[in-house]
Amino acid sequence: MCGIVGYVGGEEAAPILLDGLARLEYRGYDSAGVAIFDGERLRVAKTKGRLRALSDMIQGGSAIRGSIGVGHTRWATHGAPSDVNSHPQVSRSGRIAVVHNGIIENYAELKAFLVSQGVDFASETDTEVVAQLIEYFYDGDILKAVGRVLHRIEGAYALGIICGDEPERLIAVRKDSPLILGLGEGFNFLASDVTAIIKHTRNVVYMEDGEIAELTREGVTCYNHLLQPVRKEVSHVDWEIDAAEKGGYEHFMLKEIMEQPEALRRAIFPRIRDGEVILEDFGLSDEYIRALRKIFIVACGSSYHVGMVGKYNLEKLLRIPVEVTLASEFRYMDPILDDNTLVIVISQSGETLDTMAALREAKGLGAKILSIVNVVGSSIARESDVVLYTWAGPEIAVATTKAYSTQLAVVDLLGLYFARKRGSITAERRQAAVGELLLLPSKLEQVLEKQEAIQYFASQYFNHDSIFFIGRNVDYALGLEGSLKLKEISYIHSEAYASGELKHGTISLIEDGTLVVAVATYARLFDKAMSNVVEVKSRGADVLALTTEDRAETMGRNANAIITIPDTDELLLPSLGVAPLQLLAYYIALMRGCDIDKPRNLAKSVTVE
Ligand code: F6R
Repeated sequence: MCGIVGYVGGEEAAPILLDGLARLEYRGYDSAGVAIFDGERLRVAKTKGRLRALSDMIQGGSAIRGSIGVGHTRWATHGAPSDVNSHPQVSRSGRIAVVHNGIIENYAELKAFLVSQGVDFASETDTEVVAQLIEYFYDGDILKAVGRVLHRIEGAYALGIICGDEPERLIAVRKDSPLILGLGEGFNFLASDVTAIIKHTRNVVYMEDGEIAELTREGVTCYNHLLQPVRKEVSHVDWEIDAAEKGGYEHFMLKEIMEQPEALRRAIFPRIRDGEVILEDFGLSDEYIRALRKIFIVACGSSYHVGMVGKYNLEKLLRIPVEVTLASEFRYMDPILDDNTLVIVISQSGETLDTMAALREAKGLGAKILSIVNVVGSSIARESDVVLYTWAGPEIAVATTKAYSTQLAVVDLLGLYFARKRGSITAERRQAAVGELLLLPSKLEQVLEKQEAIQYFASQYFNHDSIFFIGRNVDYALGLEGSLKLKEISYIHSEAYASGELKHGTISLIEDGTLVVAVATYARLFDKAMSNVVEVKSRGADVLALTTEDRAETMGRNANAIITIPDTDELLLPSLGVAPLQLLAYYIALMRGCDIDKPRNLAKSVTVE
């Protein structure tokens, strides 16, 4: 929920930390701060508000000199956004500074203990407890003091720590919150994710839960929780810095919408050979796949909406029950799982706490876990039995777009792979779908070319207070995603309904001028979709219909406006249909002057329950 970065090297740390934080701001943006050793003592600068305010405060970094430091951008959990609650949090003497992403669950108990020892607290944060506790145990060796603290704190944490008495050492700690180390020549980094450091190095170490690392200018040493050294593999990040920059677009969200065809090529093409889906090094045996009796899909938010489409598609392909469940509900619902149940976990970040907790719950009950994840080396990826990466590249805008599309493509690839192993559909049916999967990126390019028409439509309706999305089957699942996208970035109230449900209550909300987005891509239910359009039209609604090119004329007799997508295999309609809905949300939010990449109250990766 927060972004942390740390640097030790030969250059001025402050501008490097500010630049790294700028790339992590999507993780949280209610306050920011840095702590830097200036040659004599730790200097801390922090403030409520966006990173810009911090940067102004320290004149782009030039106001604090020093070549070792830590920085933080915050999404508040304990303690409201304020200057004093911002990170870094420092110990009473000012010798130890800590940046933290996560939550210390037993902080109240530890705080009571420290208060009983005469320690005063300045903030309401759980993180200050860590800084004060490290100082309590400190006797000249920061690594040892941190090691002792780790035996006492509970919860989720990625920590960056510096100590004014040992200004050559930077300490990194990870448990249940992401943290990577970036290795360079004469400098080293810690960071919440690769985007913060890719400009400086592509050599990365993924820390495991419970590990501690000591970084100096010269090198990095990793330890386990008993402070015994552990050997770590160095991974090479192969994407370019441009992937984490706006590249001429006004917003990351628009850039990422436009990147979808390329992202789909990366997700799909290497997994298709000779007209069949090939999943290399796939950790589930053919016997296991054939014996499957049930699938659970578990995820949150947009990833859950992918799961909704996945349910329809996998049931069509495999003819076994697929239950899709919100991760936040799954862990408390006492799910019924056995050896023949597969749990598919979907997550862009691979760090969503609810999804992670559901994964662990399912694993504990004996199910195998297959995860569909974007961030390489993330916690969910590491704890799964099998991982299928989406290879969408870094997604910076808080509202997901290209991760959604690639997740959907991977679910379809998986369904077709399982269908072949189980013999649940004919070879012709399978190959037709695979053929369409290969055409998906170029068809999506055609859809994205309609950008201006969607922008025009947005200009007609951007000042509405309430917008409904309706659809049936996969079109309903798609409507849910369109509605979420719209509300999260434009702050317009919006609901998605299964069209058949309208008459059971919601239709009473339809009046003159209400905007209804009718998602009607699914051929089998097109006539039903038409009836629902007529129903809402006759009660005064304005209807924007999303349908396929060959049905545009029929739909045109009733809808006020139409956006079309090329026809494709019915499994893949949502993969094309989602793009106009993303663009609609984007342009409406743009016209309302919203902060599109960083909507209020949100953060990219939700690492709290
Ligand atoms: C919406 C959005 C969120 C995420 C959700 C799950 O645009 O991005 O709803 O889909 O927070 O996040 P991941 O996929 O990282 O687990």
